[in-house]
Amino acid sequence: MATERIKVGFIGCGGISRMYADIYAGLADIAQVVAVADLVDDLAENRRQVLTDAYASEAYRARARAPFGRSDEVRAAEQKVAEAAEAAAKTTIRKYRSHEELLQDDEVQAIILLTTPTVRLEPTIAAAESGCHIFTQGPMARSVEEADAMATAVQKAGVKFHSQCGARYPRGMVLARRAVESGKLGQIGSARVELNWYRPQTYYRGWHGTWDGEGGGAAFHHGRYILDPFLWVVNSPVVELFAYAGPMLRQVEHESLSQAVVRFANGATGSIHASLLNHRQPLTPEGRIEILGYDAALLVGEEYYLNDNGVLGGRGNYWQADTAFGSSDNPAALKALESLRAEVESIPERASEEYQSRLFLETIANDTEPLVPIDVPRHHVEVVRAIYKSAAEGQPVTLPLDKNDPFYSSSGRLTHGVKRAER
Ligand SMILES: NC(=O)c1ccc[n+]([C@@H]2O[C@H](COP(=O)([O-])OP(=O)(O)OC[C@H]3O[C@@H](n4cnc5c(N)ncnc54)[C@H](O)[C@@H]3O)[C@@H](O)[C@H]2O)c1
Repeated sequence: MATERIKVGFIGCGGISRMYADIYAGLADIAQVVAVADLVDDLAENRRQVLTDAYASEAYRARARAPFGRSDEVRAAEQKVAEAAEAAAKTTIRKYRSHEELLQDDEVQAIILLTTPTVRLEPTIAAAESGCHIFTQGPMARSVEEADAMATAVQKAGVKFHSQCGARYPRGMVLARRAVESGKLGQIGSARVELNWYRPQTYYRGWHGTWDGEGGGAAFHHGRYILDPFLWVVNSPVVELFAYAGPMLRQVEHESLSQAVVRFANGATGSIHASLLNHRQPLTPEGRIEILGYDAALLVGEEYYLNDNGVLGGRGNYWQADTAFGSSDNPAALKALESLRAEVESIPERASEEYQSRLFLETIANDTEPLVPIDVPRHHVEVVRAIYKSAAEGQPVTLPLDKNDPFYSSSGRLTHGVKRAER
């Protein structure tokens, strides 16, 4: 691995950039944030200060941890983090007013795109043309047309592109993928997924709840968190679907609930349920995947858990998935599936957002293949756009979407949404 740390720029210094400041402080041994950009100067100023403080805290923590490392290797690694974080804390992070300005900074090798879901196309294409690698937080693109233009630019430039998809990395999800991939479940008959989240009306402020700001609702902006691991586990693209989607129980322009029945290329059928209406309660998982095979079935749950203060909480900066297998009549298949657990023991049970970002940086440092081929997040966008088309037209939809279809571009929208009174 190259010893030089990768020089990173943050584009967008809003809410989520605070989490990324902590993430990058923990990644000081492999990367250093050298620049930030936001249209709002105060935000950029604040975030560079937050980053500097995060580096200083990380240096202090790593120095304190180092003597207690369980081996010479671990102690040396902590020491390396401490020195790198200390150096980063002493370096002035440059501040810019837009992605265009930041991309003029020759030192920046990779951008972390932390803008709203509809600000993806221009920064990604501009970054690729500048030879920068790209990590995006949030949906890849608001339309298939945009996703295709981004993929073309990324592939032409030969840079790495990663659309955040943390839920595929915890041990339980990797186990589920191996169960399907290995054939140990037998032929797949059904695959269904649920996202059971809750967003009250008060969540829909600013750009949330609008087509122009958010680009889509439950299936698009939130559902992708579970759609990505689901489609990865199923290992077969969606080829046809029929959906209902709308602003159920909420005043929003797009949808708070979408429900689709789908057919996969491998012949299996299933469903995609993306809800922002699920009150937290003990028997409802945050996310759930069920796959029915000929020999056995699997169930993956992303559970809510009881916080220390007795409130049902969701995940914070990590993902966890619990996977169970069952078979009514094939104990040998069940045994073979259970034996897969040993293969995934070294994978973190709770995969943090930092873990995923480190994997992304390692693909740059080692010049290895992107973590996820770019046609994967592109397919997610296409599935969601097909859900909207089906819901809008009341008809089944086959994929791929035609390039002249309004739902291939971002012009196709659900029209029964409610315009929000205030912005
Ligand atoms: N905030 C959260 O808790 C949270 C959680 C999970 C995911 N996300 C995802 O993170 C992404 C960003 O969300 P957020 O809440 O941080 O949004 P935000 O609106 O708080 O911040 C986005 C920032 O991007 C800036 N920006 C827009 N265009 C720009 C440009 N061309 N150059 C530089 N800066 C530009 C805006 O000025 C704004 O400050 C979204 O895709 C969201 O889905 C956010």
